[in-house]
Amino acid sequence: MAEITEDISLAVKTLQAGDLVAIPTETVYGLAANALNEQSVMRIFEAKQRPTFDPLIVHIGRMEDVDLYATEIPDAARTLMAKAWPGPLTILLKKNPIIPDLVTSGLDTVGLRMPHHALTLHLLQQLDFPLAAPSANPFGYISPTTARHVQAQLGEVIPLILDGGPCEVGVESTIVDCSHERPIIHRLGGLSKEEIESWIGPVEVNIHASENPAAPGMLTSHYAPRKPMIVGDIPSLLEENRNKRVAILSFQTTYDGYPHVRLSAEGNLNEAARNLFASMRVLDAMEGDMIIAEWVPEEGLGLAINDRLKRASAIEPSTH
Ligand code: TXA
Ligand code: MG
Repeated sequence: MAEITEDISLAVKTLQAGDLVAIPTETVYGLAANALNEQSVMRIFEAKQRPTFDPLIVHIGRMEDVDLYATEIPDAARTLMAKAWPGPLTILLKKNPIIPDLVTSGLDTVGLRMPHHALTLHLLQQLDFPLAAPSANPFGYISPTTARHVQAQLGEVIPLILDGGPCEVGVESTIVDCSHERPIIHRLGGLSKEEIESWIGPVEVNIHASENPAAPGMLTSHYAPRKPMIVGDIPSLLEENRNKRVAILSFQTTYDGYPHVRLSAEGNLNEAARNLFASMRVLDAMEGDMIIAEWVPEEGLGLAINDRLKRASAIEPSTH
């Protein structure tokens, strides 16, 4: 089992020795290593069983570090950093060669993010290297939003978990590509599209949803519970699956008589995002052969929630 601690100095030592530490952020827990040390970064891929064609986000604790790791920083990126950092936003920029190709899967861009979490910001500020950190879950499973989630899945293969409490935002960072003339949203996440557009004007959303391992980025089936999950109109889905044992993931409504979790009694999308992944875990552990869920309103963090629901319900051609 991994040691769970709130002691930053222990995390500093472990990372300096080249080992992995799970770290809290406002979005989800990350599995961190020295981003400038290829051997340490390799351990991340091994621990997660993640294919090396899927690049890692690099976390920094000081604004000026952007200029160390990226080479061209357009005005839109500067604006986004000033407005949203520290916060749930990853910005893709042309990379400095100091960042190993393993981190970026050989791409000429690097994803940079300054997380909004006091413990992890202090940690980053005590290190003289940035931290490469994907979400701290086995590849393809739901991202962890508590130290306990990390322990349950990666506790056997990592030495240390820095416990910063449950994650405030609950879905991963929004990824904006600023390496081309016009910024493009590559992943919907904890920073809403509306907020981004209020600062830099209209932005296109282009989500890589691919099963092609040659295409780095987002795979279709991701964030997935072990039980099959279908998303739609809950009453109709209940009717269609009368003969199955189902568990329900609803937005606001309760369904008496069924194993069931709702995301937000008040219909608050921020609360729903915060509860989403932990709720999927609870449902996965409950009775029932399948999970029936519903879409949430397509606004604010609702876009990111619906994206995760879609990915969680995607069926992998290789396994079904
Ligand atoms: O909120 C978050 O972003 C969390 C916390 C720990 O910071 N991290 C996270 O990492 O969600 P991960 O590895 O689970 O997801 C990162 C995504 C991957 O799908 C990857 O393909 C994409 O970011 N990505 C990273 N660098 C990229 C790059 N240079 N070009 C395109 N996509 C990139
Ligand atoms: Mg992930």
